[in-house]
Amino acid sequence: MNDGRTREPVRVLVFSASLRTESLNSRLAQLAAATVEANGGDVDLASMAEFDAPSYDADVQSSDGFPAGAEEFRRRLELADAFVVASPEYNASLPGPLKNAIDWVSRFRPQPFNERHGLLVSASPSMVGGNRGLWALRIPFEHLGARLYPDMFSLAQAHKAFGTDGRISNEQLQERFEANVANFMDLVEASKHYPCIKRAWVEYLGEHPDPVLDRVE
Ligand SMILES: Cc1cc2nc3c(=O)[nH]c(=O)nc-3n(C[C@H](O)[C@H](O)[C@H](O)COP(=O)(O)O)c2cc1C
Repeated sequence: MNDGRTREPVRVLVFSASLRTESLNSRLAQLAAATVEANGGDVDLASMAEFDAPSYDADVQSSDGFPAGAEEFRRRLELADAFVVASPEYNASLPGPLKNAIDWVSRFRPQPFNERHGLLVSASPSMVGGNRGLWALRIPFEHLGARLYPDMFSLAQAHKAFGTDGRISNEQLQERFEANVANFMDLVEASKHYPCIKRAWVEYLGEHPDPVLDRVE
């Protein structure tokens, strides 16, 4: 957590990769946005509908250029220091519209995912919360040079997990989510504003010293 101290400016694009109106991932994205703000960050909350595009076709790119959704995704990424994606898991992988959007944006030069920090979260009614989808999503992002935060958050039984206030009802899980977002932001802030200590932060995955986690040898 930010512990009330002043944070150097960090701007985070937050979006849900679901097109569904009642999306559980959109609820998780809203919670992520609120958590970024509570930790002193600036949020740009987007929706997948803004980044949606026709199936990638190199002929269409040659004849017509980029679709509006891809232009918008690139524009919003370039305004941000980092991004948070709340992504559904479809068939143990990432949803097609998200992969398609990534494919379109990957054709821009400079390629906007390169060296941009990212945090992946998911929500699903299943018992594993869509976590397999996040591992699949790491592949295109890491291939494109995004600096993905090692820790990820997956909300299991998400259809029953949210309270009417939009928070996760289970307090331990809510705290775990907040810590995940805050630790990610610490790393983004360090990377942007204090490059001299970046190595130490990356080595320790942005975690604060904790006797439970510290090495004993
Ligand atoms: C095509 C399709 C495939 C799905 N595959 C999985 C899956 O592999 N694992 C899983 O946990 N949920 C799966 N689901 C269920 C989704 O997790 C669930 O519909 C979820 O609510 C979608 O996210 P959203 O609420 O943000 O739209 C699938 C849903 C669809 C439509």
